[in-house]
Amino acid sequence: MTSDDIKAGLNTKILGKEVIFYTETTSTNDIAIELAGKGAEEGTLVIADSQTMGRGRRDRKWLAPAGTSILASLILRPTIGLLQVNKIVLMTTISIVYAISKVTNLSALIKWPNDIVINNKKVAGILAETKTDKNYISFVVVGFGINVNIPEGSFPEEISNIATSLSIESGYEISRVDLLQEFLRQLEICYLRLNDDNFLSQWKSLSATIGRQVRIEYPDKAIIGLALDIDENGALTVKLNTGETKSFMNDDIVKIKSDG
Ligand code: BTN
Repeated sequence: MTSDDIKAGLNTKILGKEVIFYTETTSTNDIAIELAGKGAEEGTLVIADSQTMGRGRRDRKWLAPAGTSILASLILRPTIGLLQVNKIVLMTTISIVYAISKVTNLSALIKWPNDIVINNKKVAGILAETKTDKNYISFVVVGFGINVNIPEGSFPEEISNIATSLSIESGYEISRVDLLQEFLRQLEICYLRLNDDNFLSQWKSLSATIGRQVRIEYPDKAIIGLALDIDENGALTVKLNTGETKSFMNDDIVKIKSDG
């Protein structure tokens, strides 16, 4: 995979006009944040075949054998208020699901808040990081890791039963370039509608969480509830078994029950 492969026939107006490819780097999010701070153009894509310091949400590591995944970060400069940043995450998850469906025919779903799963196993994750200037967004870096051709048995022990890849699920190798291009096209369609859509109905139609039992973990107890909805800020509304309806932002507290 090279920058030229990614740009060939892409036909987008903004996303991926500039592609910076590394065989190996620290973290594409870190590089994109640095470049965005120096004024890099909106739509710049930083992508790597491998990362030495790949980061996931909640300070977790994101590990992937070299050349098997899409490990990339996009620089966006949206003209939206701070409270609307969640829209960027929603449209990114939706676009990954659509691109997977188009290129592989596999049906992926979104597990709240922003994991992409197939058969309840994680196949992609998103790490969006925002730089603000007073009440304005100076830029958003949207990092995404998609497990494309990771072979069975190559995941670290601790995630081997909760992670999967597109090649494992489909039984054949998938073109990373085709998938990435399709994702960039889908995301651009959403991005151009950023001020006209909240993306909630599309997100909900692809949700693996709405209508499922979830477990809310407090320090001293845990209760079960039914996930009802998400709101514009990305909060999950849950009808607790106490009868009360509450919204949650923190996915450390709300765990999705896989048997629900
Ligand atoms: C998650 O925890 O689910 C989010 C994972 C995001 C991983 C991607 S890989 C490319 C980009 N660079 C990083 O260091 N992280 C993101």
